[in-house]
Amino acid sequence: MLKKIEAIIREDKVNDVREALTDIGIVGMNMFEVRGHGRQGGVQLVGRAGTYQVNMLPKIQINVVLNDRNLDAAIEAILKSAYTGETGDGIIFVTPVEEVIRVRTRERGQDAMIYPGDIDSRKKS
Ligand SMILES: Nc1ncnc2c1ncn2[C@@H]1O[C@H](COP(=O)(O)OP(=O)(O)OP(=O)(O)O)[C@@H](O)[C@H]1O
Ligand SMILES: [Mg+2]
Repeated sequence: MLKKIEAIIREDKVNDVREALTDIGIVGMNMFEVRGHGRQGGVQLVGRAGTYQVNMLPKIQINVVLNDRNLDAAIEAILKSAYTGETGDGIIFVTPVEEVIRVRTRERGQDAMIYPGDIDSRKKS
């Protein structure tokens, strides 16, 4: 079974999280900038003209599609590397992935999720 992790994390944790995933052998990933809010609904900022509310805070979303046997290891790596203990540390969504097709080779599913030097090839050797 293939899964997708969408980890919404602090901008200043991006390198730590990317490194933590790379360290355990997660090769394929992508990321983009998102804006949103969680439980606090944004933050109050104090400026010269008084206080104002910023509702949609910038975060980075890291996406990883992977075999579900590697899901727990990847989640643990993200939890450790994205953590500060303060509000706004982020959130992780996990969803099932229907299909993966690599364009060049037409590999599908689990076959398309094999990367040289990745977490699975490390286990075998
Ligand atoms: N239900 C949701 N659906 C989509 N995106 C969400 C959802 N909840 C949070 N997000 C996104 O995830 C980010 C995580 O925000 P944040 O870390 O503040 O989470 P939180 O739930 O408020 O936890 P905490 O109490 O630790 O702050 C938000 O900025 C937003 O971009
Ligand atoms: Mg919050």
